[in-house]
Amino acid sequence: MNGATSVFVSDVDFSFWLIFIISALCLVGITGFVIFSIIKYNRKNNPEPTHIEGHTGLEIVWTVIPTILVMFIFYFGMKGFIKMRSVPENAMEIQVDAGMWWWKFTYPNGLEQTTGQGLTVPVDTPIYLPLHSVDVIHSFYIPAFRVKMDVVPKAEGEKLNYTWFEAGKPGDYDLFCAEYCGLNHAQMLSKVHVLSQEDYDAWFAEASKAQAKLKSESPGKALLISKGCIACHSTDGSKLIGPSLKGLIGKTETVLTDGAERTITVDDTYLRRSLNEPAADIVKGFQPLMPPLPLTPQEVDDLIQYIHELSEETAE
Ligand code: CUA
Repeated sequence: MNGATSVFVSDVDFSFWLIFIISALCLVGITGFVIFSIIKYNRKNNPEPTHIEGHTGLEIVWTVIPTILVMFIFYFGMKGFIKMRSVPENAMEIQVDAGMWWWKFTYPNGLEQTTGQGLTVPVDTPIYLPLHSVDVIHSFYIPAFRVKMDVVPKAEGEKLNYTWFEAGKPGDYDLFCAEYCGLNHAQMLSKVHVLSQEDYDAWFAEASKAQAKLKSESPGKALLISKGCIACHSTDGSKLIGPSLKGLIGKTETVLTDGAERTITVDDTYLRRSLNEPAADIVKGFQPLMPPLPLTPQEVDDLIQYIHELSEETAE
């Protein structure tokens, strides 16, 4: 594949240069003709105004030539577009989820990777990416691959938007959100790691094993990563978009409930309510940004358990 970073590069770049060169020629040609006319027909060179009648031949020329040019542009643009929308049969599927302000990549075996870890794929393999947003419109953008597609929420009965690519060269490439999606839009900066097939197989086995281990040893921590919570809630006490989860148990907080301030002590009841209805009590000094998450009662228990563990670490 002549060393291009992805299978779309040649088509997209060809269309770009085609349009760029046609535009440049038109700019030079039209500007040149305007300057020529200004000089040739100014009052000094042409004291008697020249009366010009219509010219059928000329009109046909300036209708036919632009039509041919735009048909050329349409042909090459459409050719590249059809390729981008036609996913090869043998493509490997990786589900992409986006939220404020994180990415999640889910592999067929359930392995999940987040913004900080990036999307890891094997080289020379078509990758099919169904795109799903849990909140607002995001845009999945990998400039080096010439891939850019809107990530929208899914309504009942609708099909997911999707994109695909086939990387042609191992390396790390930028992956980010190209649709302004709120305060921390810039935080949706991630990487695509393209590995050789052997490196990919080794990575995949290792990452799957590590995730299974984390899930069995600390299900709450695994959830915190996979649900994207850590994009807004730190576990080390530092303040992000939301309150840190460290040392929360027993802490006294001022919260806003239905617009009225009240003081609470963080306990399991409060945490359970906040996990199930994030907008119910907003800690003073924070914005009501957290979306309601579809969590099972077991998942809520696991998260609360982990928040307890984080508080015990502080006490030591
Ligand atoms: Cu997501 Cu910008």
